[in-house]
Amino acid sequence: MMSGERETVTVLLVENNAQLMKHMQKTLGLIDKVDLINTSLLAQDALEVIREQKPLVALVDYNLPDMNGINLTEIIRKEYPGTQVIVISQDNYTDVVLQAVRAGACDFITHDVSVKELNDVLTRAATLAVQDRSKLPAFVGMATPERKVTVPSGPQGKIVAVYGAKGGIGTTTVAANLALALMDRDHDARVVLVDGAIQYGDVHLMFNELGQASVMDLVPRLNELDIELVENVMLFNRATGISILPAPPRPEFAEKITGEAFARILEFMRRHYDYVVLNTDSYISDAVLAALDASEVVVLLTAQSINAIRNTRLFLDLWNAMGMTKDRIQLVISRYDPTSPITTERVGERLKFPVNMLLPEDNEAARKADALGQPALRSSRDSAYSKALYGLADQAIKRIEAVDKSEEPRMRMFVTA
Ligand SMILES: Nc1ncnc2c1ncn2[C@@H]1O[C@H](COP(=O)(O)OP(=O)(O)O)[C@@H](O)[C@H]1O
Ligand SMILES: [Mg+2]
Repeated sequence: MMSGERETVTVLLVENNAQLMKHMQKTLGLIDKVDLINTSLLAQDALEVIREQKPLVALVDYNLPDMNGINLTEIIRKEYPGTQVIVISQDNYTDVVLQAVRAGACDFITHDVSVKELNDVLTRAATLAVQDRSKLPAFVGMATPERKVTVPSGPQGKIVAVYGAKGGIGTTTVAANLALALMDRDHDARVVLVDGAIQYGDVHLMFNELGQASVMDLVPRLNELDIELVENVMLFNRATGISILPAPPRPEFAEKITGEAFARILEFMRRHYDYVVLNTDSYISDAVLAALDASEVVVLLTAQSINAIRNTRLFLDLWNAMGMTKDRIQLVISRYDPTSPITTERVGERLKFPVNMLLPEDNEAARKADALGQPALRSSRDSAYSKALYGLADQAIKRIEAVDKSEEPRMRMFVTA
């Protein structure tokens, strides 16, 4: 029996498929302190049950005959905000995950969820529901568990993700230089560079390093990560003193890095480093989603082109739909050209978001960095690009402090305690 230290979680299971219903009931039965108070075959019945019995958590299948699980999730979260929703589906396709998150689900599982994982997501959902209820008039005064389940805390390094909604925009270049800038700004800080561009990750190439080991080597040992293992897997770049966790060596290995696996690795990293700087690619894989979710700050790169602005706009819409706060986003125009008719003001207007920093186009610095295998911050120290990057690092540090103070609840979509 799995339980952990928590109060009983009341659960409603909404599932139309008899076999899957049985299977889920069995899995739930193996978890201690779970009270399956009811089951429904239809969305309409589920809403009735929630109104009357107020379960802390509704487990909702994606496929329901009278309404899809995403619509049901939306209604539950709107009408009965004291109940948290976990969406169940056959596959954890990113689009289904995104739909679920947009609709307000707090988590997402597949039918073959393990007992441990189900216990973890239920614990987290119940914690959120209890927190929500303490703020909802309808629930104030209602019996709530005396002891709240607490999310584990400890020494927390900060994660800064660099994301560009379009390839070739300079994401990887910024990630490499930003990691160095943070090192330069605080010589005592332990900084690590993690490649979250899971398919064609190339951040190590910026340092002229050739990787053999990669994040892949951590996957079989996720439950027993230790710093010695992690340091063995990372590349250590002597020239700069930075450690790099490379992406898998081949694109077809990408699927091994699930959102949950990557989230776990990042949470481990933040317990051992002061700054974790993340390179990403524009395709929002589960790993990228997990990284964005885990980050204190996202350096969002855009460019002076219709295309880049459109994609950035779409990204900001998604960010918004996921309920994340804009305070975490640092908007940067990459490869800035002062002669472009698309001015900084126009970019800000189109995105309805203030531009925080301009990183100049600097072909000479880029060429030199490439030729020497050393990021501009080392190979062209006095360039305008390097100066702007220090500015970016200073802004990021300030923003991290502000985000820390705001205590905004993070989704932690993929973290299972
Ligand atoms: N500010 C800049 N000025 C000039 N060239 C740049 C700049 N930033 C990046 N580049 C060049 O653009 C190319 C793509 O950069 P990269 O960082 O790999 O982009 P991404 O990761 O977004 O695909 C590289 O050749 C890089 O040297
Ligand atoms: Mg890149």
